[in-house]
Amino acid sequence: SDVKPAPTQCVGPDYRSESQKPTAAVSAGVEFDTVTILPQTPQLIALLSIIRNKDTQRGDFIFYSNRIIRLLVEEGLNHLPTIEHTVTTPVGRTYDGLAFQGKICGVSIMRAGEAMEQGLRECCRSVRIGKILIQRDEETSRPKLFYDKLPEDIADRWVLLLDPMLATGGSAIMAVDVLKARGVPEERIFFLNVLASPQGIQNFATKFPKVRLVTAFVDQGLDEKNYIIPGLGDFGDRYYTR
Ligand code: URA
Repeated sequence: SDVKPAPTQCVGPDYRSESQKPTAAVSAGVEFDTVTILPQTPQLIALLSIIRNKDTQRGDFIFYSNRIIRLLVEEGLNHLPTIEHTVTTPVGRTYDGLAFQGKICGVSIMRAGEAMEQGLRECCRSVRIGKILIQRDEETSRPKLFYDKLPEDIADRWVLLLDPMLATGGSAIMAVDVLKARGVPEERIFFLNVLASPQGIQNFATKFPKVRLVTAFVDQGLDEKNYIIPGLGDFGDRYYTR
């Protein structure tokens, strides 16, 4: 089938020898250079182990998925443009640094993507946030746009698109189509994602060769209900209910 075995690797800092490092299942690799996978550090693997565990209760699920989301936002922001910027310190010396350049906004794919808004707000003060609601059309069983509310000037912004789960890619692809129809070029869209399937990556990255996708982990595949496997179940249910 489409399910590949999980690669395992020694995890830990380079100064440790292989025998000093534990082994864990790490993200599958991908062949697209538009896809950035977070470094497979002990922290990330341990955080993922908590949120994947079926016995993890809602409070812990929220706390630890928020930590992964924060890592994704920090990484995503590194891909935005900066310009050289020199400042004077209180002791009268200068520091040759950088300044952020360009306006940004977040766009969450409801409902699960809304869980990523807080992590973005923590990193970007007063960031504008739009929303897109896409649901499966009961008649055609294809994704359908039900609602969107986006900043008027979105075409002038860098857009961080938020959805924690990339399964088949249907919703994410429709969301990028909506953004492009509003005048946002692919080069200014960054898709932040916690867990992806290889099929979702393949579909998304092939369709949008200029959109950057930042994910924490590429999993093994999809089951017959299009849940990611091994996955973590229904992200929205675990974050918002129970
Ligand atoms: N959405 C989820 O919440 N979980 C999956 O496994 C796939 C899509």
